[in-house]
Amino acid sequence: MILPLKYRPKTFQAVVGQSTTVTVLQKSISQSRLSQLYLFHGPKGTGKTSVARIFANAVNCVSLTDIKPCRTCEICIKIFEGKYPDIIEIDAASNRGVEDMQKLKENARIVPLFGQRKVYIIDEVHQLSSTAFDSLLKIFEEPYPHILFILCTTDIQKIPPTIVSRCVRFDFFRLTLSEIIERLEYICKEEKIVINDPSLGYIGQAADGSMRDAISILDQCSIDNKVDEQIIRDVLGYIDINYVIQFCASLLTRKEKDAIIVHGQYLQAGGDSKRLIKESVKFLHLIYLGYLDSSLLDDETTKDIKQMIMENVIPIIDIETVKKTLIHLSNLKIYSWETGPIEVDVSVAQLCEKE
Ligand SMILES: Nc1ncnc2c1ncn2[C@@H]1O[C@H](COP(=O)(O)OP(=O)(O)OP(=O)(O)O)[C@@H](O)[C@H]1O
Ligand SMILES: [Mg+2]
Ligand SMILES: [Zn+2]
Repeated sequence: MILPLKYRPKTFQAVVGQSTTVTVLQKSISQSRLSQLYLFHGPKGTGKTSVARIFANAVNCVSLTDIKPCRTCEICIKIFEGKYPDIIEIDAASNRGVEDMQKLKENARIVPLFGQRKVYIIDEVHQLSSTAFDSLLKIFEEPYPHILFILCTTDIQKIPPTIVSRCVRFDFFRLTLSEIIERLEYICKEEKIVINDPSLGYIGQAADGSMRDAISILDQCSIDNKVDEQIIRDVLGYIDINYVIQFCASLLTRKEKDAIIVHGQYLQAGGDSKRLIKESVKFLHLIYLGYLDSSLLDDETTKDIKQMIMENVIPIIDIETVKKTLIHLSNLKIYSWETGPIEVDVSVAQLCEKE
């Protein structure tokens, strides 16, 4: 089984981070104060679907201990085998029409076969069409007492406020670097994968807060139970941090020619201009955080980079220049195809104009 699936948390206790959400959901079960409509919102790969499934299991299990589904009652066993008919997962990306919601409404009327609640988990709910949302709203206005909805989304802006306001909303957050690294270490131990600290750091940083991404990168990079750093570089489109440091140093000191030369060398080495800008923005942002308060770097970076920034960079920089440079680079449209090597050079030129 591929690792992200194998390590999907099955109990509230196994969920990494998201502590407020997990605590409140557990309390609502232990105090039997369930709502019928929930909305889970947050970035990809942070546990929305996993927590929705755990919650759905927990509200139906007949002998919860410590709000842990027992895994032995008939309902738990059926859920575990994937044969439980009353937890229904719908992918709104492929069932986005009004007919799909009407079907759902018909189906929702029927009481659950086994447990207390029939649970609908609608993933990527922001993808529903506007007429589908209208039908969903009708269901929400008078929900059947036996149903419970969990809507999951990465993009709450696209959900009509009339829907949002009827739901109990939980926000999921990006996992911190240390949470990710700790989980990766655990998985490596379980899977007997040999990995070193720098590799854990690279993967954690590349995952950018998504536990799923972190675990899938680990999966892709481990061969014969070993993680090869070269493979990580290939998979992640590794960028030598030294280019980033040199590029940023030249910009901060307004050494126009040096910046253009580093950019050129980086292109020669097979790099991509947009990537250089993106990584430079990340690096300047770290410097900015480090300047504000060194503890702000804890969740964002590994120890060695933190140390380098705090000891070698912060003492010699002028924060106003850092801010200006950061703002300037962030304004470059790196997601646009129009931004290429020339645009980057022009941007360097602009930045280094006499202020
Ligand atoms: N908070 C977490 N704790 C432990 N593992 C997690 C967590 N979040 C994600 N994972 C890992 O990532 C995988 C995917 O998580 P999940 O499907 O719950 O994410 P999601 O928030 O629903 O993402 P998406 O928005 O892309 O649907 C899980 O199977 C698990 O391996
Ligand atoms: Mg999901
Ligand atoms: Zn049970």
